[in-house]
Amino acid sequence: MKVPKVFLSRHIKLFAELSDSYTEFRLEMPSEGDLKPLTRDFNDYQGLISTLSDPIDRDFLKKSKTLKVISNFAVGYNNIDVDSAKELSISVGNTPNTLTHSTAELALTLLLMSSRRTHSLQEKVLKGEWTQWEPEIDNGFDLRKTCIGIIGFGRIGQAFAKMAYDLWKCEIIIWPRESAKKTKCDFPFEVVSKEEFFRKTNVLSLHCPLSSETHKLIDEKFISRMNHPFHFINTARGACHDEEALLKYLNQGKIIGAGLDVTDPEPMNKNSPLLKKKNVVVLPHIGSATDKTRRDMAIQCLENIKAGLKG
Ligand code: NAP
Ligand code: GLV
Repeated sequence: MKVPKVFLSRHIKLFAELSDSYTEFRLEMPSEGDLKPLTRDFNDYQGLISTLSDPIDRDFLKKSKTLKVISNFAVGYNNIDVDSAKELSISVGNTPNTLTHSTAELALTLLLMSSRRTHSLQEKVLKGEWTQWEPEIDNGFDLRKTCIGIIGFGRIGQAFAKMAYDLWKCEIIIWPRESAKKTKCDFPFEVVSKEEFFRKTNVLSLHCPLSSETHKLIDEKFISRMNHPFHFINTARGACHDEEALLKYLNQGKIIGAGLDVTDPEPMNKNSPLLKKKNVVVLPHIGSATDKTRRDMAIQCLENIKAGLKG
């Protein structure tokens, strides 16, 4: 019997090593540096391992006549037209759980960087502008018992909230959603009304998926409803915030600092005015980027392919 072929959309050495133990399929990947591999003819493959930057749209899916399963190397799957995949009987898998801790930890890193201004203060040192110990002007924001407002109280949102509670006894409030009201955790949190969320939040952290509902959710209207200055952390998706609105309110001081692991587009335009702001930290989408997490994600991806091929 012919062994099914699976295509990995990027050259990732880890997969070459791990896929050796799978006899159910044969993995192929593009050569190093080939960044547009999905334009190739896809009629020979039963499986596809995609990354979050591969747009898997209806057109692509309709042309991929032999495709049975897509395994996204990410938990977020907003890059895949899942409705069309379902209609065409193509299974779709993702990598929940494996990356929860790493991503929550990165959100916490961004929060610490933003609240203590580490990024701009290191720049000061590198530029030779550290002339004396400063009693006042290098001060940051104290996180003890601060109020953290979370949008998206799933795996990562809960893990981040727990870290913030365990470290600083933060007050955790959640943007209203039916599923959040049913959630049980071993730390205190409250699902509040939108009004209360706007009134109390000192740190706003996004952990929701990108959808039509969350696209540019953090826009001018949203920010203008926030009662007082706040820190903004986004490790969800860049398109969940409106960059122009962020800039406007960073300039006005309503956003005290922003920590972004995700931007729209990615990579971020290197001329983005946000990159000139001292109170903005931007990282290149590294939420899940630890060796262990990426290895666990790769194994989960290969297992998803195996399961999908089995039906
Ligand atoms: P999850 O467990 O599915 O959690 C997502 C939560 O968001 C769910 O509780 C969901 O509630 C809620 N939600 C959905 N739409 C919402 C809305 N309009 N308003 C408020 N809450 C909403 O997913 P996860 O594993 O925590 O991952 C969350 C997201 O993080 C991913 O989708 C991905 O985009 C992003 N991510 C980024 C990185 C990175 O490298 N920066 C790494 C991993 C993940 P319901 O169940 O009611 O829909
Ligand atoms: C990363 O952004 C993911 O969704 O896994």
